[in-house]
Amino acid sequence: MTTTTATQQQPGQAARQSVLRASGVTKRFGGLTAVRNVDLTVDSGEIVGLIGPNGAGKTTFFNCLTGLYVPTEGEVAYKGKVLPHRSHLVTQAGIARTFQNIRLFANMTVLENVLVGRHTRTKEGLFSALLRGPGFKKAERSSEERAMELLEFTGLAEKRDHLARNLPYGEQRKLEIARALASEPGLLLLDEPTAGMTAGETSATRELVLAVREKGTAVLVIEHDMRFIFNLCDRVAVLVQGEKLVEGSPELVQADERVVAAYLGTPFEGEPGEAEAAEVREAETRGGDETHKGGQA
Ligand SMILES: Nc1ncnc2c1ncn2[C@@H]1O[C@H](COP(=O)(O)OP(=O)(O)O)[C@@H](O)[C@H]1O
Ligand SMILES: [Mg+2]
Repeated sequence: MTTTTATQQQPGQAARQSVLRASGVTKRFGGLTAVRNVDLTVDSGEIVGLIGPNGAGKTTFFNCLTGLYVPTEGEVAYKGKVLPHRSHLVTQAGIARTFQNIRLFANMTVLENVLVGRHTRTKEGLFSALLRGPGFKKAERSSEERAMELLEFTGLAEKRDHLARNLPYGEQRKLEIARALASEPGLLLLDEPTAGMTAGETSATRELVLAVREKGTAVLVIEHDMRFIFNLCDRVAVLVQGEKLVEGSPELVQADERVVAAYLGTPFEGEPGEAEAAEVREAETRGGDETHKGGQA
């Protein structure tokens, strides 16, 4: 006989569980170390941000997480199991992603793009699809229902029969997210999801990411838009030249001088160039003095 305990957890109250654990991930391309010894974790229910200047190694790190690249060193585990270096097996395990440069099937419809994203979750193989047997038709119906749910969820249901290439840019990005969600991931990786978006589209994307978390998918997001990151994430990690420089709450990261320096290019204290920076600071404190502004007016 089985007994149910009185302390069964509701989905929303589930204990925090490790979703992603990247340990000592290093990726070298010839002489260039694009990612150096990076540790990063994402727990269930978390939205974690990954920021850093251009060329910091953020996308390379994502590629190591998703099996696109084999890390030179280190390993990546999803829900306690070390992942193989094969992207389709990573997707099957439960990690889905979007790309910095949109990768949709331009000449397929919106619905078809989402259906493609579902194939890792349907048992029916290619032959079954070609023969279109009863098993396939049933699987196809349920896939289509699920795909339509995702289009509702992302606000694209009315565009189901439009070709992907005819969608405005912001909707193409949404469609990428819908397609990624179709594989029913436990972790969604977003690489610059708001790049090129209007302020309105960016705020819609924020709502969408929050809703994704609400449905039980943890999120790791790369983004340049600091306001977006700091308003969205529970935790933020900063990569600079391949290394994790700082990690913590948005408040902590925003206040960290090293982060400000990494973005603004101000030299670190005590490093060469500090004397020059001190001169600039001194000049700024004299800011009100018109003689330093050229006085040409
Ligand atoms: N496939 C590759 N081969 C060689 N170098 C690469 C490759 N991919 C990325 N890099 C280099 O690795 C560094 C990090 O790039 P990337 O991960 O794209 O940075 P980010 O996404 O933070 O802007 C850059 O110097 C880039 O030129
Ligand atoms: Mg990148």
